[in-house]
Amino acid sequence: MFGLGVAVLASAVFAKVVQAQTVFAHFMVQNSYSYAQSDWTTDMKSAQAIGIDGFALNMGRETPNYENAKVNDAYAAAEALGFKLWISFDMSNAGWTEADMVSLVTAHAGSSAAYKWKGKPLVSTYSGESQGESFWSSFKSTLSSAGVNIVLAPAFTTYRDPANASSLLSTFPSIDGFFNWWSWPADTNSLLTTATDLAYQKAIAPRGGPYIMAVSPWQFKNIDGLGDWVELSDTLWNYRWQQAVNDVKPDIVEIITWNDYGESHYISDINYNVNIGTEEEAYVYGFDHSHWRDVAQYYIKYFKTGSAPAVTSDQIVFWYRGFPKAITCSTGTRPRNADFPADAVFALAMLTKPANVSLYIGSKETTFYAGAGLTMGSVPFPTEDKQVPYIVINRGSTQVASGYGAVHINQTGCTYYNMNPWVGRVSA
Ligand SMILES: *[C@@H]1O[C@H](CO)[C@@H](O)[C@H](O)[C@H]1NC(C)=O
Ligand SMILES: *[C@@H]1O[C@H](CO)[C@@H](O)[C@H](O)[C@H]1NC(C)=O
Ligand SMILES: *[C@@H]1O[C@H](CO)[C@@H](O)[C@H](O)[C@H]1NC(C)=O
Repeated sequence: MFGLGVAVLASAVFAKVVQAQTVFAHFMVQNSYSYAQSDWTTDMKSAQAIGIDGFALNMGRETPNYENAKVNDAYAAAEALGFKLWISFDMSNAGWTEADMVSLVTAHAGSSAAYKWKGKPLVSTYSGESQGESFWSSFKSTLSSAGVNIVLAPAFTTYRDPANASSLLSTFPSIDGFFNWWSWPADTNSLLTTATDLAYQKAIAPRGGPYIMAVSPWQFKNIDGLGDWVELSDTLWNYRWQQAVNDVKPDIVEIITWNDYGESHYISDINYNVNIGTEEEAYVYGFDHSHWRDVAQYYIKYFKTGSAPAVTSDQIVFWYRGFPKAITCSTGTRPRNADFPADAVFALAMLTKPANVSLYIGSKETTFYAGAGLTMGSVPFPTEDKQVPYIVINRGSTQVASGYGAVHINQTGCTYYNMNPWVGRVSA
């Protein structure tokens, strides 16, 4: 009897153990058309190198359907690396049927790469609320009949207002968790708050599924017919992560995105073998974002350990657009909210010890004191044409590091409205 009591007590204790903090990145499977399995391996290793645990596979249900075969390669690559995956149905494509979705989930639910929340494979979405509760309850029960019991954590994107959180739950008894897609300000010239996160995190908790918080570096799209907009994102990549590690502490962070070029929030290297579309090429090619991963690496560690990690080498990650916002360009559309971003070079100092950081461009100069850890600074665009920033880290009378940006800020010659920034780094 005593032995049984101990066993029961032990399992009760174990049941309370919180699942480790997890970080995923949203991966556009639509952009894997040219992929071999080795391309998946390359991306997964690059993500793993900064602490990302897995990819949410955004399946767009393209016609003809090449995505299912690419996802088979993704699972094989992930199994070999100990990387995790879940399917994220892009329900904005009307082509999805229950039968297609059930067969896709069933095909991969038994993979060692299938991410599990409390022992069950997780399934997520982009939108899907217009399908209604009957669709989702049928989807889950059909899967269940096939022996696959999932945890459903969708991004029902019309649920953004904190006041709608209780109606989300009453409208959708089938959902177990929730993914808040909204990781940029909503067409306003003010910073994003955590109000949506906190309301939906609290509302979903009794269902037992994860609260997934989206963290994104930028939002700019300029595809005629598919949307022309920018959201205020100047310092988002720093403060949104701060919200995640300090204020919201979600079960899972989902980075938006790994490779969505069209919305300018990719953190992967640009893969020039991917056909991203002619308009996207005009604002993505040459606008490298890879050093945003250096920032992510720091915050992922912070999120997983629960405290600010020590910075181990001095570096400044900086980003800026190539043209002032008021410029007239010869093609493309001036995006909605184009007046919001500041005409400035943004620099995030990541320092081992305090230093003075100087940002120079044209006739403009800013120097700020930065302590150990992370500090944001900026310098406004100059009026002179064709300038590149020069950045210096000084500690006392010693210059620790210096370097230039690789992209010019031009006052003339704009051929396409582009509010996607170039990201660089100066390091010791
Ligand atoms: C959110 O609440 C408002 C006000 O009650 C309502 O008009 C709107 O339809 C709700 N949105 C959703 C997605 O339920
Ligand atoms: C920063 O600059 C000020 C003014 O020159 C100087 O007094 C201070 O020692 C510098 N701090 C560091 C950490 O270099
Ligand atoms: C800005 O000007 C430089 C120098 O003339 C040029 O090389 C570069 O292509 C221009 N940038 C853009 C985005 O047009």
